[in-house]
Amino acid sequence: MELSIFMRSHMRAQVIRLVIALVLLLNTLNVAESRRGRILESFEYSAISCRAHSASLTEFGGVGDGTTSNTKAFQDAINHLSQYASDGGAQLFVPAGKWLTGSFSLISHFTLYLHKEAVLLASQDTKEWPVLKPLPSYGRGRDAAAGRFTSLIFGTNLTDVVVTGENGTIDGQGSFWWQQFHKGKLKFTRPYLIEIMFSDNIQISNLTLLNSPSWNVHPVYSSNILVQGITIIAPVTSPNTDGINPDSCTNTRIEDCYIVSGDDCVAVKSGWDEYGIAFGWPTKQLVIRRLTCVSPYSAVIALGSEMSGGIQDVRAEDIVAVHTESGVRIKTAVGRGGYVRDIYVRRMAMHTMKWAFWMTGNYKAHADSHWDPNAVPEIKGINYRDMVAENVSMAARLEGISGDPFTGICISNVTIGMAAKAKKQPWTCTDVAGITSGVTPQPCNLLPDQGSEKITACDFPADDLPIDSVEFKRCSYRMSHSV
Ligand SMILES: *[C@@H]1O[C@H](CO)[C@@H](O)[C@H](O)[C@H]1NC(C)=O
Ligand SMILES: *[C@@H]1O[C@H](CO)[C@@H](O)[C@H](O)[C@H]1NC(C)=O
Ligand SMILES: *[C@@H]1O[C@H](CO)[C@@H](O)[C@H](O)[C@H]1NC(C)=O
Ligand SMILES: *[C@@H]1O[C@H](CO)[C@@H](O)[C@H](O)[C@H]1NC(C)=O
Ligand SMILES: *[C@@H]1O[C@H](CO)[C@@H](O)[C@H](O)[C@H]1NC(C)=O
Repeated sequence: MELSIFMRSHMRAQVIRLVIALVLLLNTLNVAESRRGRILESFEYSAISCRAHSASLTEFGGVGDGTTSNTKAFQDAINHLSQYASDGGAQLFVPAGKWLTGSFSLISHFTLYLHKEAVLLASQDTKEWPVLKPLPSYGRGRDAAAGRFTSLIFGTNLTDVVVTGENGTIDGQGSFWWQQFHKGKLKFTRPYLIEIMFSDNIQISNLTLLNSPSWNVHPVYSSNILVQGITIIAPVTSPNTDGINPDSCTNTRIEDCYIVSGDDCVAVKSGWDEYGIAFGWPTKQLVIRRLTCVSPYSAVIALGSEMSGGIQDVRAEDIVAVHTESGVRIKTAVGRGGYVRDIYVRRMAMHTMKWAFWMTGNYKAHADSHWDPNAVPEIKGINYRDMVAENVSMAARLEGISGDPFTGICISNVTIGMAAKAKKQPWTCTDVAGITSGVTPQPCNLLPDQGSEKITACDFPADDLPIDSVEFKRCSYRMSHSV
């Protein structure tokens, strides 16, 4: 009896020990399971709006192995998240990994967020790139008259869109497209990396864009656009890899960007010849600040050449140029029509330049033969001040249009250090009018020196543009996602 009681309690203790061990084992397994299958991602970021709903690309079949196409995963994710557009919006997280994809389209009240080790790899399969009609203000594509491949990240008729990350990467894998371009094999115009069309309230920030097939960032027919903290890198010989091209846009702010490319770092545009004139949509209220540019064959900031809808009120400041062909360049021609007026640039430092300032009135590339010979552009009110340049081959080459001079040019407090092998004549000017003050080397006679007391003569607006008052919110993302 005594023994049996002892045995029973002994057995009970054994069973309890076994159960505890089992529970412990299951627990460990569970933890291991969740460690292997799910990661908790949580971070904060700044944006014009935060979102109520979140998802990760992996929930929609995304595979970040660099070879599986994720075009459908992106589009499925975005289609699914579109149900939240009127319910606080949604953010789509792209985790660390290499995500091969063709073109996909954004929606309103949406944020695309790239992890710092996320790389979107643009597909080189042209079937992954739907073809769009030419832009109405251009009449034809830049590479081919027919349509144009949709950009990698595309949006049209949207409001409130954010594309951001912790400096995550979008790699256009452009060499494929550059070769097609050089061989004249393109049936359609090359895609851009990011194009946002007919949209309002757009933020594109804290991303690295590599090797775009053509232009990098193209906001067009849009307003209230913020482009901030973007690094753009492409070989300096790659064709048409413009950095950021605001095109028929109102109220745009580009700041804290670093661009090395094969074409203009920023090109301000508004449509081409008779198509741009008919469309009549200018680019105005543009601020560019804290831009660093390296572009040995192009400009830091180009105005044109497609400027037929007009360009007005551009303010650029605190710009650094290194080994770049020209600082600010105006490109236009008879047939363009339109205007470039009220341009203000200050505090620009230039190192190793061919021309500090360049204006070209005979930039002849026309959309077709139907351009109007009476459509002369008006170039007026161009202000440059407080600049230093060194190792410059030619201070300025300013060529207006005969019978249509470029007027109201004002250049003050600008010191241009000439290169050892500089051109003998530092300034050449034709069909331009304006003034200078405190400028060395001595400017051309068409821009007479007003004496050193006028050193602050050139305007720079004291007021802010509406885009300067955009307020950021602190947004957060907290989700576990499977790996
Ligand atoms: C987008 O907006 C433009 C201009 O308002 C309009 O012409 C066009 O039809 C719209 N496109 C779509 C797809 O809704
Ligand atoms: C972003 O990445 C680029 C390319 O790797 C790098 O050059 C740049 O310094 C990075 N910017 C920031 C702010 O981390
Ligand atoms: C971009 O990144 C910088 C540095 O991490 C951060 O201070 C800034 O808030 C970010 N801006 C946007 C608009 O994402
Ligand atoms: C000056 O510019 C020339 C090209 O015009 C370049 O070869 C040289 O390295 C530059 N010198 C300096 C000191 O930057
Ligand atoms: C002239 O420009 C330099 C920057 O290049 C600036 O430091 C200086 O204050 C300017 N002078 C005047 C009188 O504005």
